[in-house]
Parts: sequence; structure tokens; C-alpha cells
Amino acid sequence: MTTPEMAFPPGFRWGVATSSHQCEGATLNNQWYAWEQAGHIKTGDHVGLACDWWAHAEADFDRAKDLGLNALRLSLEWSRIEPRPGVWDAAAIARYRAMLVALRDRGLEPLVTLHHFTHPIWFEALGGFLAPDAVARFTRYADFAARELGDLCDFWCTINEPNVFCTVGYQIGDFPPGRQGDFRATVRAQATMARAHAAAYHAIHAVQPQARVGWAHQYNTFDPARPTNPLDRTVAGWQDAAFNQFFPGAVLHGRVPAFMRPFAGNLRDVQGTYDFIGFNTYGRDLVRFDLTNPLELFGRRSGAPGAPQPDAGVATSYGEIYPAGIGRIIAQLAGLGKPIYVTENGVADRDDRLRPWVLATATRAIYDAIQGGADVRGYYHWSLVDNFEWAEGWGLRFGLIALDPQTQARTPRPSAAYYAAIARANALVPLPE
Ligand code: BGC
Repeated sequence: MTTPEMAFPPGFRWGVATSSHQCEGATLNNQWYAWEQAGHIKTGDHVGLACDWWAHAEADFDRAKDLGLNALRLSLEWSRIEPRPGVWDAAAIARYRAMLVALRDRGLEPLVTLHHFTHPIWFEALGGFLAPDAVARFTRYADFAARELGDLCDFWCTINEPNVFCTVGYQIGDFPPGRQGDFRATVRAQATMARAHAAAYHAIHAVQPQARVGWAHQYNTFDPARPTNPLDRTVAGWQDAAFNQFFPGAVLHGRVPAFMRPFAGNLRDVQGTYDFIGFNTYGRDLVRFDLTNPLELFGRRSGAPGAPQPDAGVATSYGEIYPAGIGRIIAQLAGLGKPIYVTENGVADRDDRLRPWVLATATRAIYDAIQGGADVRGYYHWSLVDNFEWAEGWGLRFGLIALDPQTQARTPRPSAAYYAAIARANALVPLPE
């Protein structure tokens, strides 16, 4: 039974988050497909038809509607829309128009991401976001998308997780272009993405003055392994600065961490280019000072002993799953006076051991933040259906609904019903026994 004090504000967005490459299938013209062809998916899996959305997204939109949701975040596949530089594909736009209409018909407000880790092979070949013309190329695409789709969507994420895209692509090497330890490129690419974001922000507003434009940032929580140890505190702070603070520093605050500034170039015009704050969050790392690990800024990361662990990836563990971090992140952002959306949160959990607890903890954190005065407007769970998890292939399962990629059969996990209960009540719902 919901008491009024457990309720969320009317109109709160209960959504799910998705992306084109992970769900559509046959996205054969982007740099992630080339990366897969070159043998870089750790499981050896193939994206194949993914969740078969290019043909049948509407069936999953029905499932989202049946869960009582009112919002869905999806991304456009730039490589379909602009298969060659300056050449636009009318059939691709027609399909996206049909998908947006289908969402609206089902009462699911679309939140459209322009760049969710993938871009055309030609864009990568020209240098990706390290190329001098990257900003102009991205802006031309953003302008085109706003003109073609703006009558069906006014809620835009320019770029998903620029910090993950750059850190994993240029520092760790698991994402294309697969460089390792290139801190300079990690910062340069992020700085270019910040300029691309800002230019796209203005391009969309020029077409659609009432648009709400932001980006989806990834915040990972870094805490000192030994909370009173000054060295652990220092290196945890460096990791937080390097991973979390560059892009928000540029866009929200107009200042980036000092040690990244030499590689960042001119970011003067970037500050203030956001109508809302969107963030994705999953985990927490405890950081211990380690002189032998200069590549990670002298910090050694681990999960808290005994903390909830998601399913392990093939070659990597995601660390501690930490939905309570949502409250700490909102506390950093609430003072900026812009609406806040949790644009992704979830867990790799094939057996649904942790997902209900993640949902309960996340919604409680948001509820408490709203009670404390924060303007949080929505929560988008990652994800609706199991989908292709980048370098981990089909190895990690994030869906409220399980998918067998061979047969395309779908089976709701118990947490789907729990999330549906929360969304329908628009309120906190106690965890099922
Ligand atoms: C990304 C998603 C990904 C999810 C789970 C986020 O970093 O935006 O594409 O599937 O995390 O790892």
C-alpha cells in the first residue's frame, strides 16, 4: 500500500535505457562492427541481430508499455543515417521516425542519444574525435537529426559517456581504437567531444528552440580503501578527477582538473551548454595508494570486501555494484539548478540475484534526494532486454527481460514485475519477500 509520503512527483519519468548497436542488429557500418570483425570481442560473440530492433523494436516497446513505463532512452546509429560523409540515408531516417512514432503512441517519451559509443567507419578512419574536423562533422549530423526528427522528439542526449568512451578506447584499450596508456589522447578526445557536444547543443537549439539538450555522463564512485590514510585519499581524489570530473568540469563549471588542462585546448565556449544533467552510474571502487601503478595514477582499485558483486565479465570484473552512489552524485549536482535524470543504472545479473535490490536502493536514493529538495525528474534502468555488451559480447546480462539471442525468445526476470510495480505506483515499493 502506497502512502502519500512514498510517492514521487507527478510526471516522474520511469524509463529504460538502450542503444542502437546493442539492440538494433546488423549495424555493419560502424567502428564497433569493424572491431568485432578484427576479433576483439572477448567471448568471440557476434552482435548479429542483437535484439532485432531494426525489424521489430515495436514488440519491445509494447513490453515497456506493459511494464507501466512512460519513457525510453534509445540512440540513433550515425553510421546508418550518414553512411558516407555528407550522404544521408532516407530509409534509415524513415525507420527512426517510425520508431519514435511507435514510442509516442505507447506513451513512452523518447530520449534520443546521438552518439552512444558508435560512429561510422569513415569517421573513425578520419581520426575519430582526435581529428581537427570532428566537431564540424558531428554538428552536421546533429543538425540533420534535429531537422528530420525534431517534430517527434525534443529531448536529446548528445553523447553517451564521453569519459568511458575515451578512457576505455585510449587508456585501457578494450574499446576501439584500442590504444593503451595514452593519457594525452584520452584528454584530447574528451575535450573534442566537449566542443562537439557544445556545438551540437547550439545546432539543435537553432532548429528547435524549446529542445532539452544534455549528455549522459558516467559517474563511478571512488573512495579511499583506508578512509583516514592521506595517500589513499589523494589517489582516490585523482581517479575521481581524471575519470569523473573533466567533462562536467568543462560543461557545468567552466574549469577542468589542472593536470588535464595542458592537453585540453580551448574550452571557453563549452560552459553552460546543457538544459538538464543526465548521469549513468553503476559501481564503486576503493582505491589504495600503489607506487607501482603509475598508469592508474598510483592507485590500485578493488571492490569493498563482501560487497555485492555483479556477474563477472570474461576478463574483467565490474567492481562493487553501488546504487547508493546515486544519492552522493545527486548531492554534487543538485545545486546547479537544472533538472537531473538518472539516464542509466543497472547490474549484470543473469540470475536476478541483485537487480531487485538495485532497483529498491536506487529508487530510495532518488526519493530521499527529492525529499531533500533535489530536482530529479527521471530514472532509466539499463536495460529493458539483455543486449550486446560491447567487448563482453553476450557474456553480461543487464535486462529486466532475458533474451536468448539465438531464438530471440524473451523471458521476464522477476525484477521486471517489481520495476513495473514501482512505475505503476509512481512510488517506492518494498522489496518483494
Ligand atoms: C553504457 C552501456 C552499457 C552499460 C553496462 C554503460 O557504460 O552506456 O552501453 O551497456 O554501461 O555496462
